[in-house]
Amino acid sequence: MACTDARPDVLVIGGGIIGLAVAWRTAQRGLAVTVVDPDPGGGAAQVAAGMLAPVTELQYGEEPLLRLGMASNERYAAFAAELEKLTGLSTGYRATGTLAVALDADDREELRELYAFHQRLGLDSRWLTGRECRRLEPMLSPAVRGGLLVADDHQVDGRRLSAALVAACEQAGVVLRRALATELLVEDGRASGVRLDGGDALSAPQLVLAAGPQSHLLPGLPAGVLPAIRPVKGQILRLRMPDRHGPFLSRNVRAVVRGQHLYMVPRAEGELVIGATSEEQGYDTTVTAGGVYELLRDAHDLVPGITELPLVETSAGLRPGSPDNAPLLGPTDLPGLVAATGHYRNGVLLSAVTGDLLAEYLATGVTPASALPFSPTRFTVKAA
Ligand code: GLY
Repeated sequence: MACTDARPDVLVIGGGIIGLAVAWRTAQRGLAVTVVDPDPGGGAAQVAAGMLAPVTELQYGEEPLLRLGMASNERYAAFAAELEKLTGLSTGYRATGTLAVALDADDREELRELYAFHQRLGLDSRWLTGRECRRLEPMLSPAVRGGLLVADDHQVDGRRLSAALVAACEQAGVVLRRALATELLVEDGRASGVRLDGGDALSAPQLVLAAGPQSHLLPGLPAGVLPAIRPVKGQILRLRMPDRHGPFLSRNVRAVVRGQHLYMVPRAEGELVIGATSEEQGYDTTVTAGGVYELLRDAHDLVPGITELPLVETSAGLRPGSPDNAPLLGPTDLPGLVAATGHYRNGVLLSAVTGDLLAEYLATGVTPASALPFSPTRFTVKAA
């Protein structure tokens, strides 16, 4: 078995936005980093709508995740600006805010409860009547009964962000090895490298597993080191908004329609992203007629005018869901192996903080306090 390339300090397995953010930030700390991925910058961010929405995506009982999401949100403007300055590429970051609306009396009641929860946590969200919602977004249906304006839930363009991260990695000296990791190599109880398709092997003292819903499937990974990461399919639509008569939508708009989360993310260049389904049926990224139908039907309830818009693209991606839907960040029980996976619905949002936290650990050997609640070892079954 040939060992190729100079031995890096850190080997990142998976070049989606999480792996790239970790690689970039780690290289900025002076470590030699290699990313192994057949298509760096591919992955779920190519599909994602790119909402940066820690408050409007908040679920009851997820306060630690809220704090992590808010920490990432707070650094996002600087993260995007640094990437843009270094690479000359736009990330599509837009400080639009988000309007979450209710379409009927039951939705309104649920949204009022969410508002009360926001108030208890001291979050910046404001209750609006239906009329006030339509004043902000005139294309909303007359059925809208009220809403929550969250001024700090913004958006970024996952495709642009991926391209900027690839460029920033290259500038920082990260080696992008366009190959598939086919096996984790373990020597004397320590992760030591990976074998690549084609037979080469790479070794490094520290490995970061950032392969999304494929993470736990890497051959050679000892049993019990990572829990199964569920692939949660999201189908999504891209429409084109007209540029006449002012903006079609000015900010992210979301609602729960027939029990499903629906969101619309208007980009500066006129793209309107509508998502997303949530399906747990394995590693399948087929776009289905049913998925497109449900998204269009629900989006039409919210903004009837969308049926006039050109439908430009349909796509589907897989969110990596951990058993508790929170990410796995930091050292695993296998020495030498660090995890950065399981970001579920929040991968784009959490990329900024994940890069910083993992780079801190890789450079110093100390897990930052804000990563401790997300230790991958929380899933390890300890012997009695
Ligand atoms: N964060 C949006 C989604 O996962 O659909």
